[in-house]
Amino acid sequence: MKPMSMLFSPTPFRNTTARNRLWLAPMCTYSAVQEDGHATDWHTLHYGSRAVGGFGTIVVEATAVSPEGRISPRDLGLWDDRQIESFSKLVKAVHAEGALCGVQIAHAGRKAGTSPALRGYAHAFEGTQDGWTLVAPSPIAFPGLDKPSELDAASIDALVEAFAQAARRAVAAGVDVVEVHGAHGYLIHEFLSPLSNVRTDEYGGSEENRRRFLIRIVDAVRSAIGDKVLCVRLSATDWTEGGIDSEATCRTAEALVAHGVDVLHVSSGGLLPASIPVGPGYQLPLAADVKRAVSGSQAKVVGVGLISSGEQAEQALVTGRCDAVAIGRVALTDPYAPLRWANRLTDADSVMPAQYWRGIWA
Ligand SMILES: Cc1cc2nc3c(=O)[nH]c(=O)nc-3n(C[C@H](O)[C@H](O)[C@H](O)COP(=O)(O)O)c2cc1C
Repeated sequence: MKPMSMLFSPTPFRNTTARNRLWLAPMCTYSAVQEDGHATDWHTLHYGSRAVGGFGTIVVEATAVSPEGRISPRDLGLWDDRQIESFSKLVKAVHAEGALCGVQIAHAGRKAGTSPALRGYAHAFEGTQDGWTLVAPSPIAFPGLDKPSELDAASIDALVEAFAQAARRAVAAGVDVVEVHGAHGYLIHEFLSPLSNVRTDEYGGSEENRRRFLIRIVDAVRSAIGDKVLCVRLSATDWTEGGIDSEATCRTAEALVAHGVDVLHVSSGGLLPASIPVGPGYQLPLAADVKRAVSGSQAKVVGVGLISSGEQAEQALVTGRCDAVAIGRVALTDPYAPLRWANRLTDADSVMPAQYWRGIWA
């Protein structure tokens, strides 16, 4: 009899339950080949096979809330009702294999309009594509990219609405979880960090002001998605003097939970090139800080970053650093990692598809 595993025990999120605590981290695949933001058969296969592979919650890659908010022309998008149908195919495939499906809604801000980070293209941050207009809280360029123009109040209102509409479309496509991308140096993070936001109006200056854009988005998205799970991904630190640190992020997390956020997905970096002490589980202490900060609430915390074995993921959970673990790069080449991990850590019945049962000897 194999032991109980926290990793492979079901987790409740708001009004739904994931079959285990493994999330597929959102990862851009730059595969909207028609440059129209539509999901293709390839996306359905890619995400569907990771659901077959045993992930409990699949988060679809950064999906733009407006065409100019795409990281590259080949990003997915939910800025138009006509995009809903292609997403619903993908969501159905994920559900059919027993996983919850989320989508990460995003605006790339001053880091929009780069090359798709695929082999055969220029390096992603070699420059802004010709004709792409960048927007940001302040006219401060990301190194190597074009200078963005400063968003005015009316454009900020329109972007809040764009996030809400994209969230509505995600729910229309059937998702269980909407993840707002507030990390990695994209638009929301640019508002949060004093290194990229030097505004003097109600969106700049104090921590509360810099948080206002995100809080408005969260309120608008919550109204648009009803009782679905609302997650926010944050970069807990800029790894740069004068930027966001874990303490500021904990205060942001508390504010988000007070505004109805169910899950905090704790990542880091991306605002500026920085020296990051990368190593196994290097972001888990940041997740643990956020977990402590929201411990008096129902909110859940997802940890991520160089977690590459079931044992390591299990340890992150049993030591109380987070409530769920997201896996990125390992899952690019190994969609079935959860099946093998389950087989080592516990009885694999919860995730092993009937068709693969005889693979259990491996
Ligand atoms: C190819 C690739 C694409 C990514 N795209 C996204 C994305 O769309 N949204 C996001 O928040 N993070 C993105 N990330 C970051 C991952 O979600 C994850 O946080 C990171 O890879 C660290 O986890 P890992 O060590 O398990 O890979 C991406 C990472 C990779 C490798």
